[in-house]
Amino acid sequence: KYNQNTSLAELYNLVESAGYQVVGELSQSRSTPDPSLFIGAGKVEELKQLAKNFKVCTVIFDHDLSPIQQKNLEEKLELTVIDRTELILKIFSQRAHTKEGKLQVELARLNYLLPRLIGKGKQMSRLGGGIGTRGPGEKQLEVDRRTIKNRIADLNKEIEAIKKHRTIQRNRRKKILVPVISLVGYTNAGKSTLLNTLTGSEVYVKNQLFATLDPVSRKTKLPSGQEVIFTDTVGFIQNLPTQLIAAFRATLEEIKEADLLVHVVDVSNENYLEQVESVYKVLKQIGVEKSLFITALNKADLVPHYLIERAKRQLPNSVPISAKKQVGLDELLLKIEDCLSARSSKIEVMIPYNKIDLLHLFYNYGIIEHLEYKNDGVFILGTLRNKEIGYLNKSLSNL
Ligand code: GTP
Repeated sequence: KYNQNTSLAELYNLVESAGYQVVGELSQSRSTPDPSLFIGAGKVEELKQLAKNFKVCTVIFDHDLSPIQQKNLEEKLELTVIDRTELILKIFSQRAHTKEGKLQVELARLNYLLPRLIGKGKQMSRLGGGIGTRGPGEKQLEVDRRTIKNRIADLNKEIEAIKKHRTIQRNRRKKILVPVISLVGYTNAGKSTLLNTLTGSEVYVKNQLFATLDPVSRKTKLPSGQEVIFTDTVGFIQNLPTQLIAAFRATLEEIKEADLLVHVVDVSNENYLEQVESVYKVLKQIGVEKSLFITALNKADLVPHYLIERAKRQLPNSVPISAKKQVGLDELLLKIEDCLSARSSKIEVMIPYNKIDLLHLFYNYGIIEHLEYKNDGVFILGTLRNKEIGYLNKSLSNL
């Protein structure tokens, strides 16, 4: 039943992921939403009756509600009303593991809460987070607003500090010339499983939406022996609320810095093409080119051969794999290697005088932007094909 409407099917999964049980659904076709109730007044009554019959405690809307609509609906229904963004925020806060992830989620929640402080004591408690839950009075409201604004400012500062630290780490990685490959994909596509299989690590894998919320990085070797770093990122979903994209911008921006993206697609999901589109949309929003991709058609073990062939035609530059059954991984790694070696990266390197012949790599396969003769060697800032970076790296580490 849900497959006919992918947005509602996704909501169903989101709702269960947040720990609720779905007991019923109601929909309405309208040309424009009602400004004060979102749905029509008659529909509110119908919803109230349905909720009573099923003894529900929460009504979840597959749309974003304005603060006033949410407040009015709660008053009329005498129930908690949650919109799509609040639901996703709830899931995100259950799943964030690292300090940065937790701070980003808290920031997103507070930004969501701020315009919703409209003189209703309950509003304060609905998102919790260590803020007082006291009464509605105007004065209290002012105090609450100020408290939240201060906390938002502090969170922004803390996140900024972490971001700086990460940039330093990233630059360090660049200096040691290790390419970074970012796994992206729709939530539940199998990114964490793939990361585990490729790197032999134990990232949290669970058949639940958004099992991973923070990037996790692991080092491994390609068949040629070249070292690479794989990073697993937050799973994407359809219509990821913009304020969440904003909150996770720093994390998502890691993707932009990657040398290559492996887009993990769950081909066993019948809506995989829609999911691919959702991923492209989010990537476009953060300014990533589609051309940087290799597509891993994951969960191929669950799909007949002819469908895999079709998916290969639909999604160029793709390799069928099964992360779980460890099938097709060699082909994937070879493809990664091919793509990486054909591409160039910016590097900074110090070539000692006894290895000065390595300079020819730059003359033949790269561009030198800056060259400086120092006491212990020649410092170069420039661009070089990754294949030659691998060679350079090996030669320098054999010193
Ligand atoms: P998020 O963290 O939500 O973004 O998910 P993810 O993309 O990291 O997915 P994860 O690796 O957690 O896998 C989701 C589910 O798919 C788990 O139950 C995995 O066991 C299952 N899975 C992953 N790869 C395969 C595969 O190749 N075949 C099959 N049959 N199942 C797989």
